[in-house]
Amino acid sequence: MEKKVKKAIFPAAGLGTRFLPATKASPKEMLPIVDKPMIQYAIEEATACGIEEFIIITGKYKRSIEDHFDSAFELEESLKKAGKKRLLEEISRLNHINFAYIRQRAALGLGHAIYCAKPFVKDEPFAVLLSDDIIDPDDTLLKDMIKLHRELNAPVLALQQVPMSEIHKYGVIDGIRERDGVYRINKLVEKPKSSDAPSDMAIIGRYILTPDIFDILEGIGPGRGGEIQLTDALCSLLKKRPIYGYLFKGTRYDAGDKVGYLKATVNIALKNPQVSDQFKEYLIEVVKSLKINV
Ligand code: UTP
Repeated sequence: MEKKVKKAIFPAAGLGTRFLPATKASPKEMLPIVDKPMIQYAIEEATACGIEEFIIITGKYKRSIEDHFDSAFELEESLKKAGKKRLLEEISRLNHINFAYIRQRAALGLGHAIYCAKPFVKDEPFAVLLSDDIIDPDDTLLKDMIKLHRELNAPVLALQQVPMSEIHKYGVIDGIRERDGVYRINKLVEKPKSSDAPSDMAIIGRYILTPDIFDILEGIGPGRGGEIQLTDALCSLLKKRPIYGYLFKGTRYDAGDKVGYLKATVNIALKNPQVSDQFKEYLIEVVKSLKINV
């Protein structure tokens, strides 16, 4: 019988080497985009899709993630006394959510991070959100993927077309187009050279997975880069059941990368009513000072 997607895993135990030294002793997932840490965008996205249970995979130096989603009694009292209603609402908005934290003892790869959640997920389908892939809050990617999973009763991976010069950073699929935006996957390759890439459709950080992935993850060894790769497990799963890709045409920022992070910051700031007008004026000045004709 088809089961509802109620649980989501947020892997946050990676080393974040592309952001060193900022991530030496602080989590990449806590880097702010305007006024919220990256991981909060992913949590809010999942909340909007009806996810009820939130499982965060943490590791060494990741304690601030737990503190961030905990209630902050003293701060709340102080804001209450000062009559700062808006800030109080802002910091306590997610207080009703129950989080489970699982510690990944060593950063052995995304596949291993997901495997760590097996005891919490049990036999249900679940979502995986990588918080350094920021999806524009006005897009409905995860909602659409959950809907597709319900219809097909199969794992669904989010895909995006990326320039061939960037393809080596991603898991890449080859698939048969079933209808607009929906592909039945027949091959997956992790971080191929552009000459070996089967297409320009890259897997991005949103997945709806089924619990049969856990048995496979348990059995696979290190793959590319010495890490336990989710893509390798998906390749094995593909031999047993259909897997679908959903081509996302909206806006995603790869905020795990410095330039992507800066793009996310600029665009999200431009949509933020508290800062957008002032920030836009500043950006116009910057562009003028660069003497670029726009
Ligand atoms: P990344 O590939 O972005 O790796 O992981 P990273 O370690 O975070 O960053 P770089 O590449 O060294 O700069 C994708 C997601 O998977 C999580 C990360 O926290 C990130 O959210 N992850 C990765 C784990 O939870 N555990 C791992 O062992 C590896």
